[in-house]
Amino acid sequence: MEETKRMGSSSLASCFIFLLLLLPILKFGEGNTEALDESEEKKDPMLIKMVTKIDPKLIVFFTINDLKQGKKLPIYFPKRDPSKSPPLLPKQTPNSIPFSLKNLPQILSSFSFPHASPQAQAIQQSLHQCELKPIKGETKFCATSMESMLAFVTTALATKPPLKLLKTSHLTNSNVHFQNYTFLEAPKQIAVPRLVACHTMPYPFAVYYCHYQEGDNSVLKIALKGDNGDLVDALAICHMDTSQWSPSHPSFRVLNIQPGSVPVCHFFPSDDLVWVPQG
Ligand SMILES: *[C@@H]1O[C@H](CO)[C@@H](O)[C@H](O)[C@H]1NC(C)=O
Repeated sequence: MEETKRMGSSSLASCFIFLLLLLPILKFGEGNTEALDESEEKKDPMLIKMVTKIDPKLIVFFTINDLKQGKKLPIYFPKRDPSKSPPLLPKQTPNSIPFSLKNLPQILSSFSFPHASPQAQAIQQSLHQCELKPIKGETKFCATSMESMLAFVTTALATKPPLKLLKTSHLTNSNVHFQNYTFLEAPKQIAVPRLVACHTMPYPFAVYYCHYQEGDNSVLKIALKGDNGDLVDALAICHMDTSQWSPSHPSFRVLNIQPGSVPVCHFFPSDDLVWVPQG
């Protein structure tokens, strides 16, 4: 923690953004959790190594210049079987299991995970991520129940229910996760005044990392067709200003561009939830 405090805010932001993007990609128990060692996340050369190592799972980025009908892009699109994902627990159950780094030994023993196991490391990283202070302009919350998620979202959106939920949908079934996709039509911008994105976190029960970020973001629906015929109704977001992002943000390496040069977009995997005000 001391080391975290000494870090400049931009490098803290870079770790934060990097892990935030990485963690939802590494599903619980299946990810390369050793790459998430806390000492590694602070060194840029290691970040580069990690990016190389986890290719092609970071192939979710594109730039605003790609937003046109007929555009063809390689995209990593995991199709996760919802029946194999941990469910969101009813409110009282997660509350009975502590959800904080200081209770890590108790959490590990309640799930019978050995201290040095990949699962233990994933739990520790998820808790660490959830307990990091928000970056400037950001409001965040790790939700362990639908009730607590909706309470956070309604407050962050400054609205009352009902809310609208946006997601990526897979319209076809296949086990191809990485391939080229073609934009079937011009992407449709969804006009939303505010949004909260909730990303799944590696954990033995469902945990959503939800955050609201100030700034100019553009939400898009893009009809995609994979080379194998897969159809995806894809949800994406474009961040219009990346000038404050760290140069080591993985999107810049993947796209080979400089911070602030061009808006950076990314697709949401189908188990991420994007909440917006209704109507
Ligand atoms: C996507 O298409 C390009 C150009 O046709 C090809 O070089 C590349 O290998 C393809 N990528 C995948 C993941 O199929």
